[in-house]
Amino acid sequence: MFLPIVKWPKIFWASAQRKQRWYTLAGLLAFAAALGVAYSVHQPDPPQSWSDAELRAIGSLWIGALPPLPKDPTNAVADHPLAQRLGHRLFFDARLSANGAVSCATCHRPEQRFTDGLARAVGLGLGNFNTPSLVGTAYSPWQFWNGRADSLWAQAASPLENPLEHGGSRAAIARLIAADPAYARLYRNLFGPLPELPRGEPANAAEQQAATEVFVSAAKALAAYERRLLPGETRFDRYAANLLAGDFPRPPANGVETLPSDHLNRVEVEGLRLFIGQAQCMNCHNGPLFTNHEFHNTGVLPAPGALPDLGRVVGAELVRSDPLNCLGRHSVGTAKDCVELRFLRTGEDLIGARKTPSLRNLQGTAPYMHAGQLRNLGEVLDHYNRAPNAIVGHNEAKPLRLLPYQLKRLEAFLRSLDAPPATAHKWLLPP
Ligand code: HEC
Ligand code: HEC
Repeated sequence: MFLPIVKWPKIFWASAQRKQRWYTLAGLLAFAAALGVAYSVHQPDPPQSWSDAELRAIGSLWIGALPPLPKDPTNAVADHPLAQRLGHRLFFDARLSANGAVSCATCHRPEQRFTDGLARAVGLGLGNFNTPSLVGTAYSPWQFWNGRADSLWAQAASPLENPLEHGGSRAAIARLIAADPAYARLYRNLFGPLPELPRGEPANAAEQQAATEVFVSAAKALAAYERRLLPGETRFDRYAANLLAGDFPRPPANGVETLPSDHLNRVEVEGLRLFIGQAQCMNCHNGPLFTNHEFHNTGVLPAPGALPDLGRVVGAELVRSDPLNCLGRHSVGTAKDCVELRFLRTGEDLIGARKTPSLRNLQGTAPYMHAGQLRNLGEVLDHYNRAPNAIVGHNEAKPLRLLPYQLKRLEAFLRSLDAPPATAHKWLLPP
């Protein structure tokens, strides 16, 4: 009974029937093989070095490749420190809304990378779309999922008047700015004297124009604030910086993860390899913001109960006819500053297309996609893996047929793309 464990096989071998012996041996071998397969599936491949093409791809995604924020020639106060201050206050001010309870920060919460964690935004009512992050959006030539605004200030005017968001009016917002001493002072310093404003809703064109002038200036100050919300350096960026400097970090041979926090672990590295390669994510999520700033149909189903809509095709029409667009009279730019708008692309292939979002800051910004249809990154990756047919237009992404362990690697990589914004702390707090 208490014989040493090594003696048991010998005793079994001697006592068992010949046939029984071979069955047992075959069983043991099959078990060992199954263990081996399970282990190799679970374990990432041993790290390999990167090819030149892969290094170039990684370098193009690195935050160090992000150019300085382009100027906005349509907004004279885009980088004015007083406009940033005015915009900061307005961003957090719920008095701009019809019920005094909704501010930009209600939906764009600084502590959640300027999103709200809801599938669809809730202001005065339930909206139709998922709240995007504002970090880095100043780089984009188009705002909104369908790109129906061509500047941050044209965008900012929209929620203020949207009955489901602030539900405010131009005249009421203009009067608030004139009545609040701090606002009035900042306004005068930036834009000159405040015009005579109507007491109620504008009764004629002159009153309407006065209210609009103050309202649009407020939107331009909001844009100046939003231009401060820039992406920070993520773990991926530190890994890329090391790699580009010729430092190839290698995980220790014993497999224990003792890597410093600025190195990606093996699972994340293999996820990066898939991202820039087999998974073809870089067809659309490219450049240091992980977006080509273009519009694509990815076959995401409409939100439950919502009708499919035409996406960019509608957005293109709206931005063309928007009085606040680059060519409109509130823009201080000249026609040559409006190349994007003048040569705007539309057409059948943009039916159902949405703006490619940045993939920086996916942490804490679930649910995903334009109406928050997909609850988590697992569902997003499953969607790309299947690439179902689109309900309107056609899905540009092709089925990937990746295995579950590969999807896990991709997800781990996507999670390494998060960092607090590279924005002075004071801008992240209410004034
Ligand atoms: C009720 C919630 C809510 C409020 C309030 C709100 N937003 Fe938004 N914001 C959204 C949603 C939802 C979208 C996407 C809508 C769409 O694309 O049609 C959005 C889109 C944006 C975008 C475009 C981002 C991109 O990537 O295209 C910017 C910029 C923005 N909001 C800034 C603001 C500012 C500035 C304010 C305050 C004046 C504000 N928002 C108020 C929910 C809100
Ligand atoms: C054909 C262009 C295209 C390709 C290829 C593509 N994407 Fe996207 N991606 C988009 C667009 C457009 C959206 C927004 C779709 C929508 O909301 O309807 C999006 C949305 C996302 C989102 C949600 C982000 C958010 O804030 O809601 C994630 C995550 C994402 N993509 C990751 C990936 C990954 C990972 C890959 C590779 C497997 C990939 N994408 C391939 C264009 C693309």
